[in-house]
Amino acid sequence: MVVASRLPVDRVDDPDDPDRAPEWRRSPGGLVTALEPVMRAANGVWVGWPGSAGPALGPFEADGMPLVGVGLSEADVADFYEGFCNATLWPLYHDVIVPPMFHREWWESYVTVNRRFAEAAAEQAAADATVWVNDYQLQLVPGMLRAMRGDVRIGFFNHIPFPGYEIFAQLPWRRQIIDGLLGADLLGFQRHSDTTNFLRACRRAAGRTTRGSLIRVPDPAGVREVRAAAFPVSIDAAAFGELARRGDVLARAREIREAIGKPDVVLLGVDRLDYTKGIRHRLEAYSELLDEGRLQSPGAVLIQVASPSRERVEQYRLLRDEVEVTVGRINGDHGELGSTPVHYLHQSYPREEMAALYLAADVMLVTSLRDGMNLVAKEFVACRNDETGTLVLSEFTGAADELVGAYLVNPHDIEGLKDTIMRAVTASPAEARRRMRSMRRRVYENDVAHWAASFLDALKGSPHHQRQGVSS
Ligand code: F6P
Repeated sequence: MVVASRLPVDRVDDPDDPDRAPEWRRSPGGLVTALEPVMRAANGVWVGWPGSAGPALGPFEADGMPLVGVGLSEADVADFYEGFCNATLWPLYHDVIVPPMFHREWWESYVTVNRRFAEAAAEQAAADATVWVNDYQLQLVPGMLRAMRGDVRIGFFNHIPFPGYEIFAQLPWRRQIIDGLLGADLLGFQRHSDTTNFLRACRRAAGRTTRGSLIRVPDPAGVREVRAAAFPVSIDAAAFGELARRGDVLARAREIREAIGKPDVVLLGVDRLDYTKGIRHRLEAYSELLDEGRLQSPGAVLIQVASPSRERVEQYRLLRDEVEVTVGRINGDHGELGSTPVHYLHQSYPREEMAALYLAADVMLVTSLRDGMNLVAKEFVACRNDETGTLVLSEFTGAADELVGAYLVNPHDIEGLKDTIMRAVTASPAEARRRMRSMRRRVYENDVAHWAASFLDALKGSPHHQRQGVSS
């Protein structure tokens, strides 16, 4: 069983026809990209929220997957999802790029909603089931679920960074979060540095003793040992590679280049519209390269896909305004009739269109200020079957640990970012191929099946798992 704040699909109702059966649309984010193929292969149950306020849906099936829909009221969406998850934890865990907000009523809602998820999981999990809880929205679920169902094996994976202790310590509820997480048998993180940050938080915030990757936790049956380790998440590389071989996708990639005026160089950014992604830094660097004549429009074009995200959270609204003003300024300064230096698309696209965009690009720009992994970087690499194309990649992404063939960059250093973009634009075909080949090897070897298998194998072998009988 997977438990995640979101289901892999969002429920979309027709406001003009409330009697019409809902449609189901793929939900955004890296978590779904990673877990969907794993759950399809395992035929496991997925417990999550369908993305809009409404009652619990219970068990149902959509898109061929067994799902259990947890309900959130309008107040839960405001206090739990938009509040504690996305205006407290999200900025805190991403190194306070914007100031996190601490509100006691948001915390209360986080506890209530986490309990609801734990209850849904406890109700639906088979005897001795393996339950895999995911991400920062549900950090109390492992502890709550363990109290309800001592028979199940509990894994937790954090898809976003775990911050250094000096930052984590700001959280008024730091002790409760650590205790909740330590209900799991195994805790997985993206990078080794996230794991060491977490181990330190266990010692400092909760007074736990750690030995290597093991944390000692008092338990009614004695002492449990919980393991924390890095498992870098990935994608279904072969599926992306296949998609990028399809005739219609290749034709669409050619069509995209024609539609934007057959430029010499296509730069591409693909992100949720989120302040962690460094979209403003990227636009600033591109704009200065145009100002300085190092890149020229219409020879160079930037396509920026910014998929809508968390649109009612204030910082996201502010970011959208800033990005759109900047895009407007660049196009005003450098555009001509019939040529546009930035094609900005505030939309979400199906996977086929994404693959076509990856193929249409020459240089992929991933300039996150902080990012757990960044699966877009891996998707781009997986699609480049002909080994062309270059990747500019922020060193503050989890992907930077693995994709050493990328042009690594500190996105805060605008001069460095500009120089790195130019190196990626002007790389010789042989150099680009050498780098792409090494990245492709890595992405195809360490794919999502490898990630899931290593996490689940480690969970199976996790130390001192106590069997206490089924209590539901
Ligand atoms: O991958 C990180 C993540 O926050 C997921 O947990 C989440 O589902 C996704 O990004 C998209 O965010 P949201 O669910 O808030 O739209």
